[in-house]
Amino acid sequence: TPRWLIVPAAGAGRRMGSECPKQYLCIAERPVLAHTLARLHLAFPEAGLCLCLQADDPYFSAEWVPFADYRRVSGGEERVDSVLNALRAIESEAADDDLVLVHDVARPCVSIDNLLELAREATLSASGALLATPVADTIKRDDAAGRVQSTEDRRGLWQAQTPQGFRYALLRQALEMALGAEGIGASLVTDEASAVEALGLAPRLVAGRRDNIKITHPEDLALAEHILAAQRQ
Ligand code: C5P
Repeated sequence: TPRWLIVPAAGAGRRMGSECPKQYLCIAERPVLAHTLARLHLAFPEAGLCLCLQADDPYFSAEWVPFADYRRVSGGEERVDSVLNALRAIESEAADDDLVLVHDVARPCVSIDNLLELAREATLSASGALLATPVADTIKRDDAAGRVQSTEDRRGLWQAQTPQGFRYALLRQALEMALGAEGIGASLVTDEASAVEALGLAPRLVAGRRDNIKITHPEDLALAEHILAAQRQ
């Protein structure tokens, strides 16, 4: 099981188009953030939580945090900056080979089974592991005029989800390198695995459930409510 959980929750959620960031919108009268932390706690009650929040976040309440071992970390400019802040914050406590799972606050529907399986695979893989699903739709690339330029061969393509799990030292090195002068840069590091891949390593793909959606657009909230209700049956 992971020693550390990092939950980046410092995004503005602009695609949601709401005043309040998406992690504070409610599903069944509880904010998305509370659902996500409750799931993680069910799977990994002993882990140390690092929650990345905007420094001036007016919405957060500690009552939604079920973890006994928990620290709040300031979010950065981009998601990767937030995660790196968390890694730096636990530097003095973390051992190089501690397992760290990073999970988007916006994925409250992740199943306990998938959490446990991902943690197991990440422990076994020297390059870490991530939940992902094979691409089901046909994928098009556009040209500047909004027409189809090409169709991608979808065989072998996966959609990356979270959690993603890596050893502390590997993840820290990968993110520091990605943001360094020779690195691929924050805009290309949309998940942790991409930074690890840039080191020439190959994280393991763990087939996850398709209902581990990332709440991004307004219609996703109703979908998440339905998924959570269906999972309780
Ligand atoms: O925007 P997107 O949905 O890809 O964000 C993924 C996750 O990263 C969200 O949980 C969001 O709150 C978090 N994030 C962050 N710091 C940022 C940007 C995003 O913690 N600067």
